[in-house]
Amino acid sequence: MFHTDSWDDFDNPILFFDSGIGGLPYFRRFWERNSVGGGSALYIADREHFPYGHKTREEIAAILTRLAAELLKHVEPRAAVLACNTASVSALDVLRETFPSIHWVGTVPAIKPAALASKTRCVGVLGTDRTIEDPYIMELAKKYGSDAKIVALAASDIVRFVEEGGERAPEAEKERVALPYIQRLRAAGADTLALGCTHFLLLLDVFRRLAAPDIVVFDSVEGVVHRIEEVLEAAPSRGQKTSGAVLLLTGSAPIEPLWRIRARAFGMDIHRLDSLHVPEEAFE
Ligand code: DGL
Repeated sequence: MFHTDSWDDFDNPILFFDSGIGGLPYFRRFWERNSVGGGSALYIADREHFPYGHKTREEIAAILTRLAAELLKHVEPRAAVLACNTASVSALDVLRETFPSIHWVGTVPAIKPAALASKTRCVGVLGTDRTIEDPYIMELAKKYGSDAKIVALAASDIVRFVEEGGERAPEAEKERVALPYIQRLRAAGADTLALGCTHFLLLLDVFRRLAAPDIVVFDSVEGVVHRIEEVLEAAPSRGQKTSGAVLLLTGSAPIEPLWRIRARAFGMDIHRLDSLHVPEEAFE
């Protein structure tokens, strides 16, 4: 496993952002396919501001602008990925405008494939409160499913469950949190479901199991990773030094054992954002 305690080790890294654990399945799919031959990545879990889903668009944009500015003091990223639907619908345009030299990649719910595949013309979307009320979601729905009914449900209890360790909970407990949503969608006549919050990917198997056989579950992992790969093709790495990935937590709380276990499970070193060592030459 890669170990570091210094910003100096991150040459032209790829940044991943989420409010917590949600973006890790996206990071993992990307890293499995792309870390061969080097490269570095920083995954930032913004625990200090979790959950994003209960904040306003303006608050989320301000939080992410500050966070990105802080990171850019230390690294020159090759690309930056918002592995979070809430962050993407709220802040992607502001971040692109504020940091135009960075290649930003966002995440949106897979409403397009879900709408195209629906035969009952009733499509379920699960997300955070912030995401499902964002006009962008309704625009997507209109564009790809103008003749379909979109049933968008906020499921902040699942976000919290996952963030607090739900991915490691017994299957029966995972089913208990996911089932009411599947039941509501089934009762509404949905035959497809777009997972519109990256945290839900940690329970993908459970959603699929409960939804089968009549509801097909769609997620955005492959689409987002493919987009990152396209962006990287156009921005070859200028990094020379290292190959490794680090999970960074925001805030001043000590790193909880659960997060150490998660970092290990994903093969990453873990630090608090403010505790990485700044090399002396950075001040010259
Ligand atoms: N993982 C985030 C998303 O995809 C939301 C979690 C939160 O509310 O912070 O929307």
